[in-house]
Amino acid sequence: MLKLHQEPLITELEIKVRMGQMVLDIARDLRHRELTVIGILRGSFMFTADLVRLLYINDIHPLIDFVFVTSYDGTESTGELRLLKEMSLEVEGKLVLIADDILDTGKTMKFAQDFLKEKGAEQVKSCVLLDKPARRLVPVQADYVGFTIDDVFVVGYGLDYNGRYRDLPYLGVVEEE
Ligand code: IMP
Ligand code: MG
Repeated sequence: MLKLHQEPLITELEIKVRMGQMVLDIARDLRHRELTVIGILRGSFMFTADLVRLLYINDIHPLIDFVFVTSYDGTESTGELRLLKEMSLEVEGKLVLIADDILDTGKTMKFAQDFLKEKGAEQVKSCVLLDKPARRLVPVQADYVGFTIDDVFVVGYGLDYNGRYRDLPYLGVVEEE
């Protein structure tokens, strides 16, 4: 059994501050073209919502859609990725920014990048709240990273453990009791 650790790994305020900085970088690089933000469900719903509100403050008003990709079972990736929902927006010829909660093995990001390129996106950029480089199996990086963390299983701010804790406004760690 895994249990939620008492202390946050990253607080709500720390997330806010770091995302503000990250969005300044995104705005600097991408403001000259129309942007389509594609969030990867389910984990990125909170991150994507806050991301687009910060883009709004920076006077960037993207089109927004989601794809639903799943691979996880408990704390272990099953390795097999499934596309449960495609986006509805047309991405052909577009500048797309993928938003995901965490870059772990890299399989999900690689899958999403390949999928969007297949659909004809002209340029595919990516931003993630968290990066766990120690776990990487596929050589992929994100263009914008909120926090680089150690190999711990995190929950909250959209991330779950067996479907739970997505609602936490901060990032916590689950560990053996
Ligand atoms: P990857 O395909 O292994 O890079 O995994 C990416 C996806 O796995 C993320 O979008 C998350 O939904 C999930 N994931 C990876 N690490 C964690 C974690 O520490 N906590 C919760 N979900 C995770
Ligand atoms: Mg996810």
